[in-house]
This record gives sequence, structure tokens and C-alpha cells, in this order.
Amino acid sequence: MRVLVTGGAGYIGSHTLLELMAQGHEVCVFDNYSNATPDVLTRVRSLSNGVIHDYVGDVRDSDKLDEVLQDFQPDAVIHFAGLKAVGESAEKPLYYYDVNVSGTLTLLRAMARAGCKKLIFSSSATVYGEPEYLPYDEAHPTNPTSVYGRTKLMAESILSDWAAAGDDRTAVLLRYFNPVGAHASAQIGEDPKDVPNNLMPFIAQVAVGKRDVLQVFGEDYDTPDGTGLRDYIHVVDLARAHVAAIDYAANAHGARAFNIGTGLSYSVRDMVSAFEKASGQQIPTKTVPRRAGDIAVMQADASRAKAELDWEATHGLDDMAASTWAWQSQNPDGYEQR
Ligand code: NAD
Ligand code: UFG
Repeated sequence: MRVLVTGGAGYIGSHTLLELMAQGHEVCVFDNYSNATPDVLTRVRSLSNGVIHDYVGDVRDSDKLDEVLQDFQPDAVIHFAGLKAVGESAEKPLYYYDVNVSGTLTLLRAMARAGCKKLIFSSSATVYGEPEYLPYDEAHPTNPTSVYGRTKLMAESILSDWAAAGDDRTAVLLRYFNPVGAHASAQIGEDPKDVPNNLMPFIAQVAVGKRDVLQVFGEDYDTPDGTGLRDYIHVVDLARAHVAAIDYAANAHGARAFNIGTGLSYSVRDMVSAFEKASGQQIPTKTVPRRAGDIAVMQADASRAKAELDWEATHGLDDMAASTWAWQSQNPDGYEQR
């Protein structure tokens, strides 16, 4: 299929390009590089030896989207382009609604003009909010606790209504749990621009000496070691879930949500231990109070994805830690050359 990938130069998008091309799909990237660099595509091209069409543009720019959609004529769109920092979303709510919600609307309108009716959406487990039961299945009530989470849930609602309004429209809503890890080549990976908000990139920067100490946000949760539990998912498994979603969308109609996780969960201490083992480095830690808005445990019931997408995670914790270490240690400054 011909697949337009918005945000394709980002962390998850870049890994997905490789998996799509490996399965024979033709890809086109649309990205404004607000959180990525064009060097990413240079590396993806050299890893794949494949053709990647690419356009620079913003998903809120309908003229630019028209140009791309008319030129490339995609069969489906994977919509990664968006903003993802929970803390920043509280400070800049209108910016988050604009990019994540208006951006999705603008994209859907442009798709309608080009006759493209299939969309795979980057949603998040954060749409569920405080768990009423665990693991979360897709029927769990949605009650996001952040502006970011609400933008994702709003976009999901728009996509569901859009898909229901036409017989041949498909929206696949992928609710990611916690993506970590990097490609086996160590050529592409996560490259946060500022201080990392997330656990794994922070641990990785401590291991290479860019940061002194990992702050453990609370050790008084009702969990076995007192730290938060998360369902970490290897980014290559996550990328493959998009390929499975593209195959599914070819024959499905309407909107459908899928949890994309492993069904297992690990604590902050587990992640530190796994990283120490993979890297041979000691990770100094310091316990500080809980981070506002954090939930004790998030864990997926990923059985729907297995049954309907024929997808399940295959990479374990050691692989998540080892691939993160390989990427970080071989690219201590990310995509920036030293
Ligand atoms: P990322 O920031 O690495 O990738 C997003 C890409 O979109 C970047 O290349 C950025 O330059 C581009 N972009 C941002 N705004 C744009 C705009 N207005 N127009 C065009 N391009 C734009 O993030 P990621 O981790 O790869 O996440 C991809 C998607 O998955 C996001 O929508 C994010 O909300 C969602 N998601 C991520 C996580 C996670 O923990 N990484 C978890 C759940 C959901
Ligand atoms: N943590 C620390 N120290 C840090 C960073 C995180 O102790 O420096 C802890 C957190 O308290 C939490 C765990 O590590 O217990 C994971 O935290 P992350 O920030 O890596 O991930 P979150 O689960 O908080 O959030 C992530 C994404 C959100 C997304 C959510 C659910 O950042 O965008 O997963 O998909 F909404």
C-alpha cells in the first residue's frame, strides 16, 4: 500500500518506516521537524536502501497537505504528528488542542478531498486515566487526567464519528502504553531535545554521564517495591503494530481501538536494574516526592490486538534496555554530530 506517515521523522515514526518498507509498502513522510531532524530520514534511507518520499509541512496547513495527498495519492495515512509532553500541555493548552485536535481535523478534510479513507492514529493509554480495574481493556472508561490526554481522546472521538459517517472509512486507534528501546542497528532511537520527561531516556542519559542522578518519583505507591509500574513496549514491536493495523484496515470498516502493550509491567527499580545489567554502568538514584498526576500502575490487556490484528509483542525487558544502551552509547548526543 501507499502510506503517508505524518510525523514520520519522529521516534516512533522512524522505526515504523523501516517496518513498513520491509513489508513492501511505499512510504511518504510529512513532518514539520518541530521535534525531529532531517538526518533521521538519511539514516532510515541508508538502513533500508528504499525510497522515502518526503515533504516538510505542518498538519494544520491544509494547502500543503493537499499538495502532498494529490502528489502521493496514499491508500492510508498513519498519523503520528503531534505533541506529547504532559507537563507542557498544561502550560500551553491551546497549542496542544491546535496541533493534536485541529491538526487531525485538517488532515481528515484533506484526506476527504484526495479520496483517502483509512487512518491509523497514535493514541495513548493515558486516555483511560485512573484505573477502575487492571489490566485496562479497551472497554475501560476513558477519563484522561491531563490536557494532553484530553486532546488524544478528542481526536479519537472525531475519528470515530468520521468513520461512522461513511461506509468505507476506517480509523484504527492505537493506544500505546510506554514505548522504549531503539532499532537493532543503533542508528535510530529516541532523541529528546530538552531534559527527558520519560524514565528510559533519562536513565540512558545518566548512564552516559550527561546527567548525574535519576530522580525516582515516589517510593510510597501501593506496588511491590513502592515505585510506579508501567507496561513498557519495545518501539520495534510498536512499529510492527502499525504494519498490522495497515493490513487490518485494508478489510475493516468503522473505528476500532486497540491497546498496544505487552500485558506485563515493570517498576522504576526494575528498569534501573535492567539498564545497569545491559550497560554495565551504575545508575545513581535519589528518591523524591511523587510527580503530580502520576498513576501507580498502568498495564494493558493486549488480547484484542492479538485476536484481531494478529499482533503481539516479542521483545522483552533485556532487549528494551540493551537497545536503548546501544543507541545512547553510540550516539551520546543523539542525531547531533559531535
Ligand atoms: P516525536 O515527537 O518523536 O514524533 C512526532 C513527530 O511529529 C516529530 O517528528 C515532529 O517533528 C512531528 N510534528 C509535531 N508537530 C507537527 C505538526 N504540527 N506538523 C507536522 N509534524 C509535526 O513523538 P513520538 O514519541 O514518535 O510520538 C508519536 C505520536 O505517538 C505522537 O502523536 C504522540 O502523542 C503519540 N504517543 C507517544 C507516546 C510516547 O511515549 N512516545 C505514547 C503514546 C502516544
Ligand atoms: N519516573 C521516575 N523518574 C523520572 C521519570 C519517570 O521515577 O525521571 C517514573 C514515573 O513516576 C512513572 C514511570 O517512571 O512511574 C514512567 O514514567 P514516564 O514519564 O516514562 O511515563 P508515563 O507513564 O508517566 O507517561 C508515558 C508518556 C505519556 C503517556 C503515558 C501513557 O510520557 O505521554 O506514558 O501512554 F500518556
